[in-house]
Amino acid sequence: MKSKLLQELRKHPNGIKLSGFDPSGDINLKINDLEKSGYVFEKKEDIICLVSSPDIPFPWEFPRFEPNFHYFKDVKSTMINARELAEKNAPHFTVVIAENQGSGRGRMDRTWVSSGGGLYFTILLRPDIPPALVFRINFIASLTLVKTFRSLLGVEAMVKWPNDILIHEKKLCGILSEMAIDEERIRHINLGIGINVNNDPAEREPKATSLKRVLGKSVSRVDILRRFLETFEENVRDIAGYRNIISEWKDYSITIGRNVKVVTIKDTYWGTAVDVDENGALILEKPDGTREAVIYGDCFLV
Ligand code: BTN
Repeated sequence: MKSKLLQELRKHPNGIKLSGFDPSGDINLKINDLEKSGYVFEKKEDIICLVSSPDIPFPWEFPRFEPNFHYFKDVKSTMINARELAEKNAPHFTVVIAENQGSGRGRMDRTWVSSGGGLYFTILLRPDIPPALVFRINFIASLTLVKTFRSLLGVEAMVKWPNDILIHEKKLCGILSEMAIDEERIRHINLGIGINVNNDPAEREPKATSLKRVLGKSVSRVDILRRFLETFEENVRDIAGYRNIISEWKDYSITIGRNVKVVTIKDTYWGTAVDVDENGALILEKPDGTREAVIYGDCFLV
């Protein structure tokens, strides 16, 4: 396995013995393959060391998920590939990722600019929970993302209801989810996540930002994705028991206490966001003093 070889090479920066590593003898084939994918090695007699790795989310960079990890250079939208895989019974925690999306989709029928350098992926989930608890998945995902950005990169990422990630009030990351239910049973949930990493969406979307823009340098997409997938997978294992998800999420909320405009499919509301209830609905206090619980919509800070 390439992942095993890379793991060994990273553990031994001074190199490993070619002859000792792989008695089956196909190590040279693996090294050739990896070189073609952009990895650089230094070879001295029987010793080989890894000099550098490309920042490309190849499946072998995520050993825990590798068997169900689908990497593409170009797709229309990873949501389409993930739906096809779901229809073919792909298992829980199948990941579809692409370098570029020709027709990246956002929430409320918007497009998602998906130029090279970002992370665009969909995770297929088959959780054994009642449909009433599905909302927790988006909250777990956005909370895990915020914590990943904060712990790995030290940035002040915040969540904006329902599940956008912002830095300095500009959008860094968005989440789109699709669900298929059979009677009262969830068939699958496809969670699409777009993260502006080393791309520059601000050219086309002035209200967007990227990690590169915020930090003034490129960062490792592979490290971000690895940390996120590993923690997210652990967090979704116990969705039913994750009762304090909303209160944890609220610790990072930029929405509560702010004046907002919320656009739903049917209505537009103005008011102050006073809370997010235990079902994930935004509690709005309207100018006439009455309260409205909004389950789903687009929220703008005003
Ligand atoms: C939003 O509007 O905030 C949600 C954006 C979701 C974008 C991601 S990128 C990967 C996946 N594929 C898509 O076409 N959309 C989602």
